[in-house]
Amino acid sequence: MWQLYKPMKTAYRTHTCGELRSEHKEQTVTLCGWIQRIRELKGQNFVDLRDRYGITQLVFSPQYNEILYQQSKQWNRETVLQVTGKVTERTSKNLNIPTGEIEIIAEQVNVLNPAVLPPFLIENDTDGSEELRMQYRYLDIRRPELRDNLLLRHRFTQAVRNYMDSQGFVEIETPVLIKSTPEGARDFVVPSRMNKGQFYALPQSPQTFKQLLMVAGMDKYFQIVKCFRDEDLRADRQPEFTQIDCEMSFVSQEDVLQTFEGLTKYLFKTLKNIDLPDLPRMTYSDAMRYYGSDKPDTRFDMKFVELNEVTKGFGFSVFDNAELVVGICVKGAANFTRKQLDTLTNFVKKPQIGASGLVYARIENDGSVKSSVDKFYSPEQLLQWKAKFNAQEGDLLLILCGKTDKVRKQLSELRLEVAQQLGLRDKNTYSCLWVVDFPLLEWNEEDNRWYAMHHPFTSPKQEDIQFLGTDNAKVRANAYDLVINGVEIGGGSVRIHDKMLQAKMFEVLGLSKEEAEYKFGFLMDAFEYGAPPHAGCAFGLDRWVMLFAGADSIREVMAFPKNNMGRDTMIDAPSVIDESVMKELGISIKQ
Ligand code: AMO
Repeated sequence: MWQLYKPMKTAYRTHTCGELRSEHKEQTVTLCGWIQRIRELKGQNFVDLRDRYGITQLVFSPQYNEILYQQSKQWNRETVLQVTGKVTERTSKNLNIPTGEIEIIAEQVNVLNPAVLPPFLIENDTDGSEELRMQYRYLDIRRPELRDNLLLRHRFTQAVRNYMDSQGFVEIETPVLIKSTPEGARDFVVPSRMNKGQFYALPQSPQTFKQLLMVAGMDKYFQIVKCFRDEDLRADRQPEFTQIDCEMSFVSQEDVLQTFEGLTKYLFKTLKNIDLPDLPRMTYSDAMRYYGSDKPDTRFDMKFVELNEVTKGFGFSVFDNAELVVGICVKGAANFTRKQLDTLTNFVKKPQIGASGLVYARIENDGSVKSSVDKFYSPEQLLQWKAKFNAQEGDLLLILCGKTDKVRKQLSELRLEVAQQLGLRDKNTYSCLWVVDFPLLEWNEEDNRWYAMHHPFTSPKQEDIQFLGTDNAKVRANAYDLVINGVEIGGGSVRIHDKMLQAKMFEVLGLSKEEAEYKFGFLMDAFEYGAPPHAGCAFGLDRWVMLFAGADSIREVMAFPKNNMGRDTMIDAPSVIDESVMKELGISIKQ
């Protein structure tokens, strides 16, 4: 990991536990740290002393100091020590750690604080369950894995600030106690004591404020900012998370994409030493058609191939009755066993995926095709399937069918699962792209109305405005997402800065004039005073660091995350509050 500091002598220590090398031989030094472990060997005690910077071996031997040797037998792991001693060269060196050439012969010890035995091993390969580690997060952060993730996050944040500053962006803080923002999740609310019965909302994003900053003429804004969303949690979602939030004036979509492609390349270079090529762009409609997802994982191929032409009308009613027959070609997987194929079939049939079955076909060594539905198709017809996929000997075709939207989603899940099984989702490989031309609106079956796919300030494409209100599904937005390895890292849009168009948008979203006025009147009013054309985006900082850290969850790159129930089990929050406080806030809970 990086040396993030200039070594500094303090009142307690001369060096850190990561600093000493053989060139320090014969020097008398003082170190402070926690006992990682104690090993007894040939009548001596070897103590690994750990701090943020590394581990240094201490030697306690009756040969040098009988009293200290006896004392060292009494200490628990994680006891905090201050040790003075002489740096000596080790006879058996440990080349796995930077300090492995030396050890300290302890001459003087000050137990700064004893420690009770921790509830789990403070090592990368720990025996603590996730729940236990969350409860004792301050111990978990002592483990190198988590510590390094936090150091990476620090470096990442600094790099973002460097880049944004170099591009003329100004970091401006926006308030946390605000009014509901338009991102579409539930708000966390905070009761107001001085305005009884009224509530602030915590920002789901600083969206409206950054637009107001554009009206205010700040031209280029950014902020590394906490956002709060009361939604169901997943591996890449937390109720409070951090965005790199940005907005620019007098820019087009292209300007925004170029600017943040620059940020992306800079972060990859600075933190991963990777020279990223120009980012490819894919329309939303192609992403759905070829990958069944608006965040395609493009580290591997397996693009969807539509098969209606060569599968329908041959008497296989399952395909005949389907709206779409679509498949993927898995290179070199014809040797999948029956058991492996059954496992994949069970995978797509899981209720979360919901397919009714899986059809497969193998391309044999002689070039012929052997499928699980051979009785419905002649060998020549099956060769047409092979041609559609451009498949080769040894390949495996996996085919699903059903309603277009549904079957695409199902095949997308299958594609990811197969790639996972084949090891194609390598964490050290990165594939980035922009997904562009999102639909402006999406229809919600449950409450029978249109919702903004991004948010209600997103502008429609000029050429599609004509369909707004009449053929909403056709209207594309000036909206874009940054996708890395199948994860939505960020998104943004060109905003509406025209009052009439904004009013039309609210109307399409079913917001009455009064509702629009109540919710966003302040923004509309501001727009009366000369709003510049503006556009922006926001990136999920935790998600991005998670990818760079190779972590499986954003929890692993947050110091104090919440669990799946949105609880912080360490401080035990949320918790009930005193009745007197409730009274003061004017809140009563009726059971
Ligand atoms: P959006 O809602 O797409 O856009 O959010 C931007 C990015 O924030 C991250 N993100 C999250 N990360 C962790 N936990 C969550 N619960 C969570 N929710 C979102 C994602 C996402 O891509 N105001 C707009 C941006 C704009 O238009 O400028 C916005 O917030 O990585």
